Amino acid sequence: MAIFRPFLFLATVVVAFLVIMGEAPKPIPEYLKYTTVTGYFQQDDPATDDRNFDYTTTNFGLIDRNYDKDSELDSRNKKSQWQRFERAVTRLNRESDPKTQYKVLYLGRHGEGYHNVAEAWYGTHDWDCYWSLQDGNGTTTWADAHLTSEGIAQAEKANTFWRSQISSQQIPTPQSYYASPLMRCLATADITFSGLDLPPSRPFIPLIRELVREAIGAHTCDRRSSKTYIHEQYPDWPFEQGFAENDPLWDPELRETNVAMDIRLRQAFDEIFSSDENTYVSISSHSGAIGSMLRVIGHREFSLGTGQVIPVLVKAEWVEGEGPSREKGPYTRVDRCDRPATPNLVK
Ligand SMILES: *[C@@H]1O[C@H](CO)[C@@H](O)[C@H](O)[C@H]1NC(C)=O
Repeated sequence: MAIFRPFLFLATVVVAFLVIMGEAPKPIPEYLKYTTVTGYFQQDDPATDDRNFDYTTTNFGLIDRNYDKDSELDSRNKKSQWQRFERAVTRLNRESDPKTQYKVLYLGRHGEGYHNVAEAWYGTHDWDCYWSLQDGNGTTTWADAHLTSEGIAQAEKANTFWRSQISSQQIPTPQSYYASPLMRCLATADITFSGLDLPPSRPFIPLIRELVREAIGAHTCDRRSSKTYIHEQYPDWPFEQGFAENDPLWDPELRETNVAMDIRLRQAFDEIFSSDENTYVSISSHSGAIGSMLRVIGHREFSLGTGQVIPVLVKAEWVEGEGPSREKGPYTRVDRCDRPATPNLVK
């Protein structure tokens, strides 16, 4: 028998070699496929006009309707629309296969910032080719823009609205909070969710995430402050792992295209959907970034005014395949111009 020992050893080595060299079956690649589940919110209906739509006068846009098995759960019709919706979503998750999950995302655009006022004041052309590339104009600063008094009022309106939704609708409040690292989003989230009567199991502690920020590059309003500065402003708020001290993404000359933004926001969603088991998720972000998130989940285009919030019901499924590109998408060089005449001096 001793004779066989070396053979056995040799065979083991050969098999191990083949396995290492890739002869073993490869795992089939999978990716997360996102779809918007329509029919629940007015905002996902193509017939809804997004201009002048106000989430605070429409119960967040939640459609008054019955859901499957509603009558069994609420035979006396005592529950609010949001309570019945919450049960419907619980049921969707309970009855789905292990590769499928449903989340309700509350996507909030920050309140008005100084950069919004400046863009309106200078006009988009002069803003894009000159003023957006400056930190400010001597009277106003818009680099990593802060909220104007109007922006603060919009966030206070959101706070009042959440308070009334919690008491009148028992709306499911977010279980997880994420925020863009730009000052205007952190301030909006802070004002919106502070001082509410939140369940102890769902405290407001936003995780600051790099990838849910606005279109990257060129515009100084989209260049973030250092981690140290952010931490000084919001000492109790955690950062995601690996959050860099200085903005690692912003470039003074190159601006992210929509194609690149969609790849980035998909990556953000992949991180969130594969790590967060919670169903109700708040994301404090920006008009461009939320527009991109809506494209990623196949939602119709729905533009948000400053301070507006849109809820979406998202289905995410692990499916076989490589999925869409994960490369860094294309950036474009900005067209600079010489300092344009200030608007009040024109003609
Ligand atoms: C700077 O821009 C603001 C609008 O953002 C405007 O009200 C102000 O007059 C401008 N200041 C100068 C010096 O042009």
